[in-house]
Amino acid sequence: MIKINKAICGAAGALVLVLARGPAAWGDGEATYKQKCTPCHAADGSGSNAMGKKLNIRDLRSADVQKQSDAELTEIITKGKNKMPAYEKTLKPEDITGLVGYIRSIAAK
Ligand code: HEC
Repeated sequence: MIKINKAICGAAGALVLVLARGPAAWGDGEATYKQKCTPCHAADGSGSNAMGKKLNIRDLRSADVQKQSDAELTEIITKGKNKMPAYEKTLKPEDITGLVGYIRSIAAK
């Protein structure tokens, strides 16, 4: 009997952990960003690394970038823009939604 109770507590604990990770719709935008976007946009989104400077990339945290709607940011990541590559073939729509969520989360306060 005691054993069964322990098992139930363990399962409930795991469920709480899953829920605490936040809205699943945003996916793991940070992990995708670190994997695909840092070479050009820098780890912090500033674009202050060598490639970012060379390509004259704007700071993703800046008001100029953040004032664009989620739809506009999604469009740029999906279809690309000038030297910014299109990700419609390599990322799922929910991954791109996750990236937009991540870009929002690093906005300059
Ligand atoms: C090969 C370099 C490169 C990579 C990799 C790259 N980007 Fe970009 N990105 C750019 C460039 C260059 C621009 C500026 C495009 C322009 O406005 O001419 C840009 C612009 C953007 C913008 C719009 C910023 C603005 O100025 O309004 C967003 C949002 C963005 N990138 C997100 C991403 C995300 C998310 C990833 C990873 C999935 C990514 N980028 C990967 C080069 C890159």
